[in-house]
Amino acid sequence: MSDLDEMIRLAKAARDNAHAPYSGFQVGVCLRSGDGRFFSGCNVENASYPEGLCAETGALGALVAAGAREVAEVLVLAEGERLCTPCGGCRQRLAEFAGSGTPVHIAGPEGLRRSFTLGELLPEAFFFERGKA
Ligand code: THU
Repeated sequence: MSDLDEMIRLAKAARDNAHAPYSGFQVGVCLRSGDGRFFSGCNVENASYPEGLCAETGALGALVAAGAREVAEVLVLAEGERLCTPCGGCRQRLAEFAGSGTPVHIAGPEGLRRSFTLGELLPEAFFFERGKA
């Protein structure tokens, strides 16, 4: 199985566990870390709507907690006719651990729909180095 097929499989499995009773829109994400491990996440909504978490957030938390620091590839999977690209906040969260050339694949239940680089989705990302602002 190719990395992409495996990422689709893992994102689907995570999406099936999404907690999205408010929007009814379930999202699954799979990240491949620089050292070749896969981390998945799903959206976790909340009765207090703004407290809900995107699928990317959970997957990033798992990757960092496991000791990885580099996101080498991203896959986001959801149903619906539109591409489910990461929201603006998640683009910035991904940019913390990924590069402008990192592939961000968008998939539906039928498979891969389109691939971007993170730089295409978030040009001129914000970075901060203490003392260099
Ligand atoms: N959502 C994600 O989890 N990731 C995305 O890339 C786009 C949107 C979630 C947030 C919310 O639970 C639902 O989709 C509808 O906005």
